[in-house]
This record gives sequence, C-alpha cells and structure tokens, in this order.
Amino acid sequence: MRFDFTQSQPADRYRLLTNFIGPRPIALITTCSPGGHDNAAPMSFFNVFSHEPPIVIVGFSARPDGSEKDTIGNIRRNGEFCVNMVDLALADQMILCGVNFAADVDELEFAGLDAAPCRQIEAARLAETPCAMECRVERIIDYPGRAIVMGEVVEMHVRDDCLDAAGRYVDPSAYQPLARLHADNYIVADRQFELKKPADLSTREVGHVSRETVESR
Ligand SMILES: Cc1cc2nc3c(=O)[nH]c(=O)nc-3n(C[C@H](O)[C@H](O)[C@H](O)COP(=O)(O)O)c2cc1C
Repeated sequence: MRFDFTQSQPADRYRLLTNFIGPRPIALITTCSPGGHDNAAPMSFFNVFSHEPPIVIVGFSARPDGSEKDTIGNIRRNGEFCVNMVDLALADQMILCGVNFAADVDELEFAGLDAAPCRQIEAARLAETPCAMECRVERIIDYPGRAIVMGEVVEMHVRDDCLDAAGRYVDPSAYQPLARLHADNYIVADRQFELKKPADLSTREVGHVSRETVESR
C-alpha cells in the first residue's frame, strides 16, 4: 500500500507515522503552572538530537478544541521544563498524567508522584524517575496548532542504581525505559542485546578515529 502524504488527512498521517515510527521514548514533562502548581504530562514526540549542544526536542499538538496544552503554555511563559524518563514502575502514574486536566490540577499529587527540586530551573522533577533532565528553551518552532520545542539540557539527575559502579554507563538491568508504540500500546526495553560492527571493518571506515575521541565529540 502507498500513502500520499501530500494528499492525506492529518489524522491518517498521525496514525501512520506513530504506528511505524516507534518505539518512541516517553518524556514525562514537569513544568510550573501560573498558580505555582506542578504540572506533568507525557510526550512521546520526543528524543535527543544533539549532545553538543545537548538538545532534546518535544512536539506538541493542540487539544481537540484547538486550545494549547498546559505544558507548552508553561514552557513558553517560564522558558524551562524538566524531562523525566519513564520506566515500567512509573507506567500507571504516567498514564494518569496524560489526562487533560484543568490547568490548576497538580498532576503529580493526583498521580501520587513525589516532587523533588531541580537545581537550575524552577520546575520540579520527579523523585521516582530513573533520570531527570533540567532544560532551558533553546527555541520554539510554531506551526498552526503545533509547536516544536528545542530544549537545552542544563542538568541531569540519574538515580544511583541506574549506573554502573564507576558511575559512567547505564546499567541495562536497572534502567529499562518504557516507550510508546501504536495507539495505546507500549513496550519495555527488557530484552537488550549488544550488536557491534565487525572489528575487522574498522580500517574501512572513512574518518576512523579512536573510540575515546568519538565519545568525547
Ligand atoms: C504516552 C503518551 C504520549 C503523549 N505524547 C504526546 C506528545 O508527544 N505531544 C502532545 O502534544 N501530547 C502528547 N500526549 C498527550 C498529552 O500527554 C495530554 O494531552 C496531556 O493531558 C497534556 O497535559 P497538559 O495540558 O498538562 O500539558 C501523550 C499522551 C500519552 C499518554
């Protein structure tokens, strides 16, 4: 089957894109409301796109009535937000935060989540999350009824048990992120495996340099 995106309806494009581009990591984004409440909402139009500068990107759509979601409103006003990564232990709370509550509802309280202070931004982070990233808005690209937010990560909090003893690499048995597939389907990264390029092909790589140099770039 073929689908001509230049002729299709937005709902069909949404269905096809989200059905086939996945699993998508879930950012449970915490922001501060105008009344000082903690706001939390899950976003799966999310990923990291650069480490230098450290940039994450989040895509927002409007509510069905065309109004802007609280999270993007708070981000525009405060110029900051916190990305909290989600694992299976947080799944039930995450889905509660996806309910379109009124702006003055404290979603952390409603979902039974604990807030912890951030260091460089006003918004709270989730105490329970394996990893939280404090972000400042780098830029916002607006489309009718959509907004794409680029955020610069200014601080990362990682739960101690999610790192190896040296505190350098993730422990894949402890950090198994939850990700969104199509519609209401999710997957947990609990079947991880290593896949390396054949070592004997390293000399054939254009611009080959040592692994240490690559990691520092
Ligand atoms: C797993 C999941 C992923 C979601 N991803 C997005 C997304 O990427 N962009 C978006 O605008 N809404 C997304 N939503 C919907 C919002 O989370 C939902 O509209 C939420 O109520 C918005 O809350 P707010 O008004 O406090 O910002 C997602 C919902 C779920 C459950």
